[in-house]
Amino acid sequence: MQLKKILAVCVAVMFLVVMAGCGGGGSSSSSSGSSDHKGIKVGVSMPTKSLQRWNQDGANMEAKLKAEGYDVDLQFAENKIETQVSQIENMVTKGCKVIVVGAIDGGSLSSVLDEAKAAGCKVISYDRLIMNTDAVNYYATFDNYGVGKIQGQYIEEKLGLKEGKGPYNFEITTGPLDDNNVVFFFKGAMDVLQPYIDKGQLVIRSGQNTREQCATPNWDEAKAQERMDNILTTYYTDAKLDAVLCSNDSTSLGVQSALKSAGYSAGHMPIITGQDANLPNVKAIVNGEQSMSVFKDTRALADQVVKMVDAIVAGQEPEVNDTSSYNNGVKVVPSYLLQPQFVDKSNYKKLLIDSGYYKESDLQ
Ligand code: BGC
Repeated sequence: MQLKKILAVCVAVMFLVVMAGCGGGGSSSSSSGSSDHKGIKVGVSMPTKSLQRWNQDGANMEAKLKAEGYDVDLQFAENKIETQVSQIENMVTKGCKVIVVGAIDGGSLSSVLDEAKAAGCKVISYDRLIMNTDAVNYYATFDNYGVGKIQGQYIEEKLGLKEGKGPYNFEITTGPLDDNNVVFFFKGAMDVLQPYIDKGQLVIRSGQNTREQCATPNWDEAKAQERMDNILTTYYTDAKLDAVLCSNDSTSLGVQSALKSAGYSAGHMPIITGQDANLPNVKAIVNGEQSMSVFKDTRALADQVVKMVDAIVAGQEPEVNDTSSYNNGVKVVPSYLLQPQFVDKSNYKKLLIDSGYYKESDLQ
């Protein structure tokens, strides 16, 4: 089962690399791209290979940057902060002009980024904001508040909350406290759902309703499962759970496993949200185990970051579209926000298959 999952992810990633390479005339070496960028080193530091999305992000970035002629150093840090710090240090030493960082813990990179700044290197925060430093120059991400809002609105609509329906039993699973995105995911969803909790249309039997209580360290699927196992055995032996807000796809899979062990089955699951449209989750959507996910097209994010790199290298200001939302504790980081979209059984073919993000056979 695990092997099947990993193979499916590998096939999808290989496909994405080929796709990404097509547009720019090749993905293998600097000689295939713009000669203006020859010899310019760009570092790409990704948090982990253990989740599908970061493999895609890394592969997309590498292929697109290489197609532009850059010399790319792509590293994955396996969710270990010290590994990420030393990989970034290496990039600085090697003379990377720009470093793109998908942070593991946005608050732990201040001193290594000071080194980067001192060496004249520009830093782009990728997807997650790097906190408490002025050495981060730009931020490219999806509208993280919008992600949470889409999840909240999905639950609102599917349960008929606007029409006054309820009471429904509801629980929340979110991500780690050290990922700044979680603040936005949680707020976006709770701004929609809190009024229904206040009115008693949504009832949280566990009473766990804060970001701290609902956190999942490292976005770890097994930890999300363990927490939901406990909730189900403590509060739901005599009641049905109607909806679970899950901030992303890995936590959603953990919650689904807990529910299945407690006797829930495909077609009879609560409304369950997710984020990333990872392959196992899209399969779960098609099978009726997960209700929806939020699709963040990693190809578009990579395109935007490559544009930022090009502008920095050309000595220009990269395009941004938000200069107020993302304060990292030291400054507001100029950001480019892309728009996330909901995906469920009704539109996955159009969004994910027709757009070439996945092949129909990936979902077999
Ligand atoms: C990203 C999500 C992802 C999660 C776990 C978040 O920072 O925005 O897309 O699901 O990390 O990797």
